[in-house]
Amino acid sequence: MVAALPFLLPPVIAHRGASANAPENTAAALRLARAHGARWVEFDVTLSRDGVPVLFHDDDLDRTSTGKGPVNGMDWADLQKLDAGSWFGPAFAGEPVLGFAEALKLCLELGLHPNIEIKPAAGEDVETAEVAMAAAAAIWPKDRVPPLVSSFSARSLEIARDRLPDWPRGYLIYERQDDWAETADRLQASTIHACNRFETTETIAAYRASGRPVLIYTVNNAALAHELWRAGVSSVFTDHAGRLIGSLG
Ligand code: G3P
Ligand code: MG
Repeated sequence: MVAALPFLLPPVIAHRGASANAPENTAAALRLARAHGARWVEFDVTLSRDGVPVLFHDDDLDRTSTGKGPVNGMDWADLQKLDAGSWFGPAFAGEPVLGFAEALKLCLELGLHPNIEIKPAAGEDVETAEVAMAAAAAIWPKDRVPPLVSSFSARSLEIARDRLPDWPRGYLIYERQDDWAETADRLQASTIHACNRFETTETIAAYRASGRPVLIYTVNNAALAHELWRAGVSSVFTDHAGRLIGSLG
């Protein structure tokens, strides 16, 4: 029995914010997503060396900041001194690494619904989920519809299930997995988040037949998004939220 969702899923979710037009996982990307009409945003949460949850996709700082080496090799105080915007373009120079607490507060301020992707560094599945769920529970108002929590890490989702059972969980899949249904059942996952590269109309139908809405990442082409919606996909994660929302007419 799959738990009903306490919200309607939107057709478009801004992936890492408006990440085609602003540096991913930053406040600028969240603000721009909202300005482009997005109502939902997905972002990645990991831990600093001293256990502070921050928005960051890669294990390493190098691609999307002025830092070097692993994110979990640097304390939050030092992460805050980095520039997470100039790699994307001079207009974003000085954009800071965004703390998870600040991201949730910004979502509340902007009226953006978050999909919190727990993205643990190797071996930190439990700690990252524990810290992220505790921080989220402290910030997110009890009378608001809860965020959607997702992860590729089944271990992280077990922690999310045990700590915040009423917050819906999405099971993230990259390549096809034979045991997806058993895992989704065990995690009491309400949604399946799958990669566009590996899915077909048949596999999407199989996920849906389990009673779970399907969300597909990362879809930047409007024609493909429309194909997926027609195939029964509820939401697409996109770097181009404005483009896809515009294509809805
Ligand atoms: O949550 C959907 C998507 O973000 C998963 O992949 O690597 O972009 O975090 P990734
Ligand atoms: Mg992600």
